Amino acid sequence: MTAKTWWSKLFASNTSQPAFSQNPSATVIASQGAVVQIDKLGKEFQEGEIQRTVLQNVTLRFDSGEFVVLLGHSGSGKSTLLNLISGIDKPSSGTVRINDLAITELDERSRTLFRRDYIGFVFQFFNLIPTLTVLENVTLPQELAGRSSTVAQQSALHLLERVGLADRIHTYPDKLSGGQQQRVAIARALAHDPALILADEPTGNLDEETGQRVLQILLDLTRNTGKTLIMATHNPEIAQLADRVLRVQDGHLTRVIVHPDALEEVVV
Ligand SMILES: Nc1ncnc2c1ncn2[C@@H]1O[C@H](COP(=O)(O)OP(=O)(O)OP(=O)(O)O)[C@@H](O)[C@H]1O
Ligand SMILES: [Mg+2]
Repeated sequence: MTAKTWWSKLFASNTSQPAFSQNPSATVIASQGAVVQIDKLGKEFQEGEIQRTVLQNVTLRFDSGEFVVLLGHSGSGKSTLLNLISGIDKPSSGTVRINDLAITELDERSRTLFRRDYIGFVFQFFNLIPTLTVLENVTLPQELAGRSSTVAQQSALHLLERVGLADRIHTYPDKLSGGQQQRVAIARALAHDPALILADEPTGNLDEETGQRVLQILLDLTRNTGKTLIMATHNPEIAQLADRVLRVQDGHLTRVIVHPDALEEVVV
């Protein structure tokens, strides 16, 4: 599978029709943040003979405009949970509802369309398309979602400037540092103004100053425009800025830390 095909599978489809245009909840999703309701979610992976349970019976809710941090050791299941919320992966059991739409019951194509229109996903490992420039990486998903190339470019240029990459828009990803690639991935995830932002260690490769700049962009979106932000991170300082902190451990959400100030007790 080429990188472009792979990307299309994740985020695009052959149609430029807005997904769920007949669904009244779509309007709500687009204009506000998203409410995410997770019920009895489970995920098992089969590796040869071995069956590994990664998430078990997870029930929780994220409210519109909320910034929630997922903390947990490496391998605890944070990326798995974000993949299930986004519909990139299907659970072994349980449901995920986004503004009352049960995305876990949709087929793969419908999940792709939904994600394309309403979710911004900042991947842990960037997933940039190597054969496209920085600017093209940010405009492509928007164009596939039916935006005109002029609008897509305006939005892309604005965000690339905000993440400090205005002078690298014609560069290819392999000529960028890890932190620069991460910032392209962040611009790409936000360019279509998603209601729900899922960010998998979005500042993991950034120096402190750049990390703060990126975090500020994400925080502005929740604080000023009411987007819902769910972020996996190992950084306790970021967790202190969250409305709520969830700890993922051995497939369960073992603790919900309502007041991030109590974080000194948390081992990450
Ligand atoms: N496709 C897969 N097949 C088999 N096992 C998988 C797969 N994806 C994830 N896992 C397993 O699920 C567990 C959780 O992985 P996950 O990537 O969700 O962890 P994480 O909390 O995001 O870790 P990190 O902090 O290192 O990013 C790991 O033990 C991993 O090996
Ligand atoms: Mg991860």
